[in-house]
Amino acid sequence: MVENSAGVGAAYDAVAGLYAELFGDVLDRLPVERGVLAAFAELVRVRGAGPVADVGCGPGHVTAHLGGLGVDAFGVDVSSAMVELARQKHPGTRFDVGSMAALDLGDGVLGGVLASYSIIHMRPEQVPGVFGEFHRVLASGGHLLLGFFASDDPEPQEFDHKVALAYRWSPNSLMDLLRQAGFVEVARVLRSPHDGERFQQGHLLVRKP
Ligand SMILES: C[S@@+](CC[C@H](N)C(=O)[O-])C[C@H]1O[C@@H](n2cnc3c(N)ncnc32)[C@H](O)[C@@H]1O
Repeated sequence: MVENSAGVGAAYDAVAGLYAELFGDVLDRLPVERGVLAAFAELVRVRGAGPVADVGCGPGHVTAHLGGLGVDAFGVDVSSAMVELARQKHPGTRFDVGSMAALDLGDGVLGGVLASYSIIHMRPEQVPGVFGEFHRVLASGGHLLLGFFASDDPEPQEFDHKVALAYRWSPNSLMDLLRQAGFVEVARVLRSPHDGERFQQGHLLVRKP
């Protein structure tokens, strides 16, 4: 298991094809997540504050889903193999190699940031800086949607993720860090695990005032 961004990128490079095979159509089986994404997309469209960056986009299936909801979305991922796959699978959509810890974007240029199960790989002490980065690139009125594996424990819980070191978070602990970064809460959703899933799935939707 590895824990730095370059190491995480290399770990995902090694499994990119398999990941796309296993999860490329996962949203078809996740009505709750489709609902959360639809709400996020509508808020972003109504605000009209700019495009959405899907950070840690993997093979781009969620980025493309947002595109289908009428959102101008592009993907960013630290794994170059994931980005290559995403470009092949979704040729009409932009995908860039980069890290969410230092986005190659100006201040206030985005209407939305989606981080779907990607902050899970940041060490807990890195997460406040990442939330600061999301706040920097969002326009006022922009929305951030986080997807993560949930926990009841106020301390982040390391778990045996198959690809790279990862953490579960309590929604309250993440929300505290998001508030400290300058966000206000819009909504939170906790979904019970389906067959084959181990943990509750958390979704936090917040706005930059
Ligand atoms: C569990 S996958 C999630 C992929 C996709 N968002 C989804 O919901 O299926 C985590 C993704 O985050 C990417 N990632 C991890 N750390 C990153 C970082 N610092 N910056 C950008 N991407 C990162 C990994 O390369 C991987 O593609």
